[in-house]
Amino acid sequence: MLIVDNIHSYYDKSHVLEGVSLQVNPGELVTLLGRNGAGKTTTLRSILGVVCPRKGQIRFNGQDMVGRKIFEIAREGLALVPEHRGIFRLLSVEENLRIAQRKSSRWQLEDVYTMFPRLKERRKNAGHALSGGEQQMLAIARALVNDPKLLILDEPTEGLAPVIVDELVKILRKIKDDGLPVLLVEQNLMVCDKLADRHYVLEQGRVVYEGSAADFRANPTIKNRYLALSA
Ligand SMILES: Nc1ncnc2c1ncn2[C@@H]1O[C@H](COP(=O)(O)OP(=O)(O)OP(=O)(O)O)[C@@H](O)[C@H]1O
Ligand SMILES: [Mg+2]
Repeated sequence: MLIVDNIHSYYDKSHVLEGVSLQVNPGELVTLLGRNGAGKTTTLRSILGVVCPRKGQIRFNGQDMVGRKIFEIAREGLALVPEHRGIFRLLSVEENLRIAQRKSSRWQLEDVYTMFPRLKERRKNAGHALSGGEQQMLAIARALVNDPKLLILDEPTEGLAPVIVDELVKILRKIKDDGLPVLLVEQNLMVCDKLADRHYVLEQGRVVYEGSAADFRANPTIKNRYLALSA
């Protein structure tokens, strides 16, 4: 459903993505791994139209995405949960959700409250009063009520306590089991291992490895060579 084909992206003159290709198929959870600065966020920005690739193609459900406006791409159902969560700090949890809510979404307010009971408890609290984990949950819930066709997350577990990470893993598994495809940038290999169908590893703007979860598990050299952390 998402096909990224040999994209080259730049920041001004700096050539950051040097021919990245990847694919997310219906129902799949795919991770994009790699060290700091490898180009993971830039790949996501290119998919979402924040950075416009100068070469290559991006197709989503058969439509060309390169060169289209950010809001047009979002309207096709490509939903980002950004690295720093991007919630409105002065609005309450419920206001944050209502702003994003689309009638067409299969996740309505009550559905995300069932999925995230913590958010229901805190629905009157302002965004800035939430813990890091709760902000991350709100960011995911907000993406869900906005009727996504593909959920894209940039390091959702970064800086969170292990119990919260476990909770997020369960939530992401539910989302995947519900049939929503997910593209996940993540540095925590335990999280990736628990969730992913397939992995891609980026290094200096290139895909240096692509494989199934089982292949990746059986391949410690990849982890040692391209990833900073141990499993
Ligand atoms: N706005 C920007 N302007 C110029 N260069 C940038 C910009 N954002 C990122 N870069 C550079 O592009 C390269 C890829 O960065 P990117 O943020 O995509 O990496 P990443 O894999 O997401 O890293 P991290 O794990 O630290 O989030 C890096 O060398 C980075 O310094
Ligand atoms: Mg990044």
